[in-house]
Amino acid sequence: MKRIMVVFGTRPEAIKMCPLIKVLKERQNARVSVLVTGQHRKMLDQVLNAFDVIPDYDLSIMKEKQTLFEITANILNGIKAILEKEQPDLVLVHGDTTTTFATALASFYLQIPVGHVEAGLRTYDIYSPYPEEYNRQAVSIVARYHFAPTEQAKLNLIKEGKDKDNIYVTGNTAIDALKTTIRKDYSHEELTWALGSRIILLTAHRRENIGKPMEGIFHGIKRILEENPDVKVIYPVHLNPLIREIAGSVFQDEERVHLIEPLDVLDFHNILARAYLVLTDSGGIQEEAPSLGKPVLVLRDTTERPEGIKAGTLCLVGTKEEAIYQSIRNLLHDKAAYNKMCQASNPYGDGFASKRIADILLRENES
Ligand code: UD1
Ligand code: UDP
Repeated sequence: MKRIMVVFGTRPEAIKMCPLIKVLKERQNARVSVLVTGQHRKMLDQVLNAFDVIPDYDLSIMKEKQTLFEITANILNGIKAILEKEQPDLVLVHGDTTTTFATALASFYLQIPVGHVEAGLRTYDIYSPYPEEYNRQAVSIVARYHFAPTEQAKLNLIKEGKDKDNIYVTGNTAIDALKTTIRKDYSHEELTWALGSRIILLTAHRRENIGKPMEGIFHGIKRILEENPDVKVIYPVHLNPLIREIAGSVFQDEERVHLIEPLDVLDFHNILARAYLVLTDSGGIQEEAPSLGKPVLVLRDTTERPEGIKAGTLCLVGTKEEAIYQSIRNLLHDKAAYNKMCQASNPYGDGFASKRIADILLRENES
């Protein structure tokens, strides 16, 4: 019986770990426990509810406007006693958040093996995204299992000298989640509001974009709205108060922008599937949109997801007002350019990543 503790703390980690928890819990030879750090609260609980996952432990660390110091220190202090009590054979973490980094560090301090889901993504610019590029590189140093979503991610790890016998290409569990949420018959009040218009679905939350870059993005969108009466923007605003202030002040008089609360994942995926265009600085949405054939303008200067760029669905546009304005304008008016980006492709897998990860972890000869 292998004792596996799954640890996560934010919305995207939860979306990508819940399908894996479900698969692991079905296996006879695994004892699975779930610890959430509560780095996010409401946005995390939304996902736990959607996937019916009840954590065994909750560190409840979230504070308004929390700093990286607070998140890291509170996780380290909170998780120690639980790891010592549970003594798992393996701790599974996901991606690149501060929950991921602090949990991997705590596991290393206690010499507990770490499995890293969504391993090997890189920009090699330590400040972009910040602090995620550092977090994922640091986790790769201590991980015993690297579950790379793509061949490219595997190559990155090999280039860094990681043992190739410990790297497994599995696909991304984001696609596992997406397979369970999309509905043919679906309605939502925001879709009713936007009926007859072209929907731009917007999200923005990166720490390095808060301030001037975010203002640049929003002003570029405002100019588009002035010139294109058939466009409406649905913007589920991240709960970070710093972001809500900027969004509220730039878009306050815009009738064709709906600033709404973070959507449940089922709603988000289904609205994404019906949008004309997506504007985002999110990581996870860059993985979901290619599967759905939805063009994404990535509001960042770098991406660790080159597969979506190669597939033609993603385009990196940065955060400058003029660039945002021109790139949206192009996709609203140049039908050929738009259609070219709409080709659905699956660079992030077939929806069976969780099964592959479980198979590898629970092989007979795996200690
Ligand atoms: C975090 C991750 C980022 C990930 C993102 C996903 C770090 C450093 N950042 O960034 O990698 O892409 O989550 O969304 O790990 N808040 C709430 N309720 C919530 C969630 C957030 O009120 O449910 C507010 C709080 O005021 C909190 C702030 O948002 O202090 C920022 O949250 P935090 O987790 O520090 O950063 P994110 O930008 O969400
Ligand atoms: N998402 C959601 N509701 C929203 C916005 C996004 O459920 O209102 C989902 C989205 O489908 C994706 C994930 O949240 O799976 C992305 O999370 P986020 O952008 O917060 O983090 P990142 O992926 O950048 O780390």
